[in-house]
Amino acid sequence: MKAPWLHHGAFFFAGILFDPLEENLAMGKLLDGQIALVTGSSSGIGAAIAIALGEAGAKVVVNHHSDKSLNGAEEVLEKIKAAGSDGFIRQCDISKEEEVRAMFAEIFSRYGTVDIVVANAGIQQDASLLDMTLEQWNKVISTNLTGQFLCAREAAREFKRRGVVEGRSRAAGKIICMSSVHEVIPWSGHVNYAASKGGVKLLMQSMAQELAPYKIRVNSLAPGAIKTRINEDAWDTPEDEKKLLELIPYGRVGVPEDVAKAAVWLASDESDYVTGTTLFVDGGMTLYPGFADNG
Ligand code: BGC
Repeated sequence: MKAPWLHHGAFFFAGILFDPLEENLAMGKLLDGQIALVTGSSSGIGAAIAIALGEAGAKVVVNHHSDKSLNGAEEVLEKIKAAGSDGFIRQCDISKEEEVRAMFAEIFSRYGTVDIVVANAGIQQDASLLDMTLEQWNKVISTNLTGQFLCAREAAREFKRRGVVEGRSRAAGKIICMSSVHEVIPWSGHVNYAASKGGVKLLMQSMAQELAPYKIRVNSLAPGAIKTRINEDAWDTPEDEKKLLELIPYGRVGVPEDVAKAAVWLASDESDYVTGTTLFVDGGMTLYPGFADNG
């Protein structure tokens, strides 16, 4: 017998109330009602993060620098929409102050605010130190380090202005920096890249220290070898992949979704007491596997 005050779908069984609607409400998505910006999200790790944040309920701004055909960005946005969320695509060179400010202004005019910023955009321009040009050095530092500073600064200003919004998140905002195992592992032939990620380490920690009193959390993700275009040369033939696996104790090359899952956690209240931390997602690459039977 069903009690008249029970709504459709709810029922008693063996004296226990089963209510699927209540369960759905209680299981609201982790990032419901939040606005996220993911820089460099038309491909690779950024794309996986944008989709995962959308699946977790956030509206996502899909930023790209030069995805001219827009194929990648549009596919990402479609997947976010298919997951029941929303967002928009925004071109911006994140190494340019005025462009970054204009991008944030558009986010504020369309959505009112922002809650999560994943400063992901990054590039490699490899050369030995002896051959590296100043242009190669500047290009990588300005995208990977200055770009993260510019995006984090705009985000922090908004988070401080707005403060904590009751019922949305326990934090006033979350910044996630994209670092790398090369924030600790030196990398010959890539001094510009390693220097940029070493810089991200202390940029992130210093920002976290400065912003914690405003209830703004700042953390880094540090991926190891993840299969994307940036490192295709390292895994695209079976021989290359075998050689790469010598550096990965866990025995597989990562995929963008490995990093995306960690990003959702860092962006959510599940990690509310975590700030100033680098989360390595690297299958053990930073465990110095060369020392396993040596040294
Ligand atoms: C680099 C990849 C590299 C990985 C491990 C990443 O930060 O972008 O090219 O495969 O580190 O060395």
